[in-house]
Amino acid sequence: MLPTQKTFAIALGFAAVLSAGVASAQSASGEDLFKQQCAACHAIQKDAPQGMGPNLLGVVGRPAGAVAGFPHSKEFKTALKGKSWSPELLDKWLENPQKVAKGTYMMYQQPDAGVRSAIIEYLKNTK
Ligand code: HEC
Repeated sequence: MLPTQKTFAIALGFAAVLSAGVASAQSASGEDLFKQQCAACHAIQKDAPQGMGPNLLGVVGRPAGAVAGFPHSKEFKTALKGKSWSPELLDKWLENPQKVAKGTYMMYQQPDAGVRSAIIEYLKNTK
């Protein structure tokens, strides 16, 4: 094998491992993804204590910033005043909260649209 062919074969093997990783992320349920990616900062059970972020139970369709007792940032309140969490707005939010409300306290970004939509589907079913 020529050195360049060898490098190519290694690169191919590596790509296979990477895409297997992506496939398993896509087959994970929205609930699993929520636990992995959101639960460290957000509770989702009724009457659970606030975490770093507000409780997200029933968030889809709710006015932004409506969770009682959570001290939202000024930036959040200004940017999201009068808006509700439609699936579309949530999708933009999870892609990059800083683009929706520059300066918000939520430090998170999710570039994968499949992961975002699985999490949003899960959130729709929590009431
Ligand atoms: C590192 C901690 C952290 C992670 C991880 C995180 N968030 Fe947040 N989230 C926050 C904080 C803090 C706020 C409040 C933002 C503010 O007041 O500026 C927030 C706000 C929100 C809001 C606004 C709720 C309201 O009060 O109207 C939604 C919706 C949300 N997060 C969804 C999610 C989802 C879904 C995930 C997982 C994909 C996630 N967040 C991951 C910290 C986090």
